[in-house]
Amino acid sequence: MRRLGLIGFSGSGKSSLLAFALKSGFKTVDTDSLIEKRDPEAFKLLENGMEDEFRALETSVISDALKSDFDFAAFGGGIHFVHPAWKEIYESSLKLVYLRSSFGNLAGRFDERPLCRKLGMKDYEMLFRSRCPLYEKAAAFVVDTDGRGLNEIWSEVFEIWNSLFQ
Ligand code: S3P
Repeated sequence: MRRLGLIGFSGSGKSSLLAFALKSGFKTVDTDSLIEKRDPEAFKLLENGMEDEFRALETSVISDALKSDFDFAAFGGGIHFVHPAWKEIYESSLKLVYLRSSFGNLAGRFDERPLCRKLGMKDYEMLFRSRCPLYEKAAAFVVDTDGRGLNEIWSEVFEIWNSLFQ
């Protein structure tokens, strides 16, 4: 199967790049949107300290999404090497692209994110630091995003697609 998944911390541009993919005629799936559709209150679980429940829902949504027909997927920032959905993602034919950003570059884009609200900025940055190696371990490709516009980043992602599938 020819398909790519976008991973990376909140604000790294996964959903925006998915819009580029859609505009280019690809079939797309955004797992955060699917979670919200399944349970509009789901993201509140994170703010209320019920992360395990959220991850279970996320895992179930991802499992269904992986069975659907798409070319590009965008995953939530929690998807990396130690997420409960990882095994299923790994065993699917999906290749992952990590959108790598520095925390400074992302700052200002995630004040409203539920985990940021729950943890506070200092611990949220610690979470970011702990996740970076896990994204790298999970991904087949890394695309740096600092100081680059979405057009340029999309071009690199599209090149990866072409190198794999054309
Ligand atoms: C999360 C990131 C969010 C969303 C949920 C959990 C995380 O996705 O899945 O709030 O664990 O960092 P975005 O990366 O799209 O913000």
